[in-house]
Amino acid sequence: MRQPLVAGNWKMNGSTETIKNLLEGIKQSIDTVSGAEVVVCPPYVYLPGVQQQLAGTAVSLGSQNISEHEAGAYTGEISASMLLEFRCRYAIVGHSERRTLFGESDSRVAAKYAAARAAGIVPVLCLGEILEERERGVTEDVVARQLDAVVALEGIEALADGVIAYEPVWAIGTGKTASPDQAQEVHAFIRGRIAQQCSATAEKVRILYGGSVKGANAPDLFSMPDIDGGLIGGASLDADEFVSICRAAC
Ligand code: PGA
Repeated sequence: MRQPLVAGNWKMNGSTETIKNLLEGIKQSIDTVSGAEVVVCPPYVYLPGVQQQLAGTAVSLGSQNISEHEAGAYTGEISASMLLEFRCRYAIVGHSERRTLFGESDSRVAAKYAAARAAGIVPVLCLGEILEERERGVTEDVVARQLDAVVALEGIEALADGVIAYEPVWAIGTGKTASPDQAQEVHAFIRGRIAQQCSATAEKVRILYGGSVKGANAPDLFSMPDIDGGLIGGASLDADEFVSICRAAC
């Protein structure tokens, strides 16, 4: 039985003030969430403050990115050991915004997956096709290529140490959610592809859906057999909305 997980990706949003209010709101009602793991991923500079504010709660901390390097002359980068200092349990790797806006290749994303895993941080590996790829009917090829880059570097069983997030790029921040059936189809494809090489890993790995998840559509998405929770962008900036999504995952 896979424990559901809901992770809020705040992206480049918030200030000390708004984050304090958001966390207050989440803390007030998070007790109504039982059975699902809840994670928030603030911008790097807010990690120490958020860590303090979350002390004593069941909400875990994640980062939005991680360097593939351990230390050294990599201006602007943040390493796994730095993230561990602030008790980051999770690190998002290969978010579509990193891939498309910052040119992160499949092999670089795989190296980030490896760096997180080596440090004992759970990588949240994002996979997903752009609209043009869906329309051309190559969604499965794209997702397989992104997944295979990690498998080639780390081996199939390494996927059991991480989390996968299927996020169709056309659904991110657009208000256009994949239908539960559309999402389930790709989730089942991903799990099936892993199962071809290792059924125990396929059974264990959590596959989250991301892309315009809201309190209103979360119950239908999360009721699908291969959807184990969500990676939430916009709606994670609203405490009530985020907690209602978390509740839907229980
Ligand atoms: P969204 O973002 O929920 O705002 O669509 C999801 C994501 O990018 O992880």
